[in-house]
Amino acid sequence: DVIDIRALGKHGYFTYDPGFMATGSCESSITFIDGEKGVLLHRGFPIEELARDASYLEVCHMLLHGDAPNKEEYEEFENTIKRHTMVHEQIHMFFHGFRNDAHPMAMLNGTVGAMSSFYHSDLDVHNFDMRVRCAHRLIAKMPTLVAMCYKYNIGQPFVYPRNDLSYAANFLNMMFSVPAEEYKISPAVERAMDRIFTLHADHEQNASTSTVRLAGSSGANPYACIAAGVASLWGPAHGGANEACLQMLEEIGTVDRIPEFIARAKDKNDPFRLMGFGHRVYKNYDPRATVMQESCREVFAELDVKDPLLDVAMELERIALEDPYFAEKKLFPNVDFYSGIVLKAIGIPTNMFTCIFALSRTVGWISHWHEMMSDPGQKIGRPRQLYTGHTERKYTPIK
Ligand code: ACO
Repeated sequence: DVIDIRALGKHGYFTYDPGFMATGSCESSITFIDGEKGVLLHRGFPIEELARDASYLEVCHMLLHGDAPNKEEYEEFENTIKRHTMVHEQIHMFFHGFRNDAHPMAMLNGTVGAMSSFYHSDLDVHNFDMRVRCAHRLIAKMPTLVAMCYKYNIGQPFVYPRNDLSYAANFLNMMFSVPAEEYKISPAVERAMDRIFTLHADHEQNASTSTVRLAGSSGANPYACIAAGVASLWGPAHGGANEACLQMLEEIGTVDRIPEFIARAKDKNDPFRLMGFGHRVYKNYDPRATVMQESCREVFAELDVKDPLLDVAMELERIALEDPYFAEKKLFPNVDFYSGIVLKAIGIPTNMFTCIFALSRTVGWISHWHEMMSDPGQKIGRPRQLYTGHTERKYTPIK
């Protein structure tokens, strides 16, 4: 049920809704979620079907341009993205300003924001074609920047993009090739990577997307807005959850220690939460988690990987789902519960997980920004507050 309260504001009234539990901030035709039923649709297409049958770039086309591409549209879109994969050579110098043990998200935040300094002079955020060009650049350059964060961290030379490879394979190549030895891309790993991108591509008005919209609502440079999204995503309650989830599984270590951690998650005096569990909107199984669990099994089987953390995760899920605490609060595994295990199997280090989420979500962020800026009635986002400070009082000069 939706109550349109816009008219109230004109009379000085506003709603008080900390955490925006019951506030719709915009109209959008991009993504639909039914949290009670565990449904997620992008432009009307179920996420399960997209994860199984569509490539990430097809999903990008849907989110940004409104519909699934036909063959010609897809080829043109893919070519456009491939033409934009290089970053300006001076971006390299930004990296040299970072300590090489910096968190990759700190570097990504800085370098995405720095793109504002390369694309500003002809930028008109009210021009449709210009907005689309920004979106293409961002979708194309994010894998390059993310791989550069990794290479800088481990002290290896940057690897330039290769446009003869698929979007996912190019990313893997930039991550894992070294001049002395080209990385051999397994089709199973390429497929799993692409699927991880798809599963994280958009999720309507989550914290980072709302951040991008709010930043963009003032007419700000879109690259700076995406940097704001990266910052918001970093927190462990949002995109940082897959990194935190893997750390939690490592800390649990063995199946026999699970009850101890379940008890801690239920203890109100302990700040510990089961990472990868619970969601603001899903009060049922997160459909992305189901696909991710399948992907996890596929990758493990095809790569013949054995990881005791997968056993811990599956047992933890089983015990939690049978526990009345989790049932009563409708806490189910979310997408991040299994994504960390898949990323680990692919060889991605834990501190890169959130960067990969940011790479995948960039298309969602920029599609929402584009949708917002396309609305002729678009207004600056400006929430009100419930003031709890002093009433008016007399100021006494310090002297
Ligand atoms: N473990 C234990 N208890 C939990 C958990 C959890 N993971 N999540 C929520 N709860 C409990 C809370 O303690 C609270 O209990 P109370 O009603 O007795 O106070 C109740 O469930 C509701 O939780 P809220 O924090 O009010 O729910 P909210 O919608 O604000 O938070 C969130 C959602 C942030 C995702 C939360 O479930 C959480 O912290 N989960 C762990 C982090 C995580 O996995 N984040 C990824 C989200 S998905 C994504 O960003 C891709």
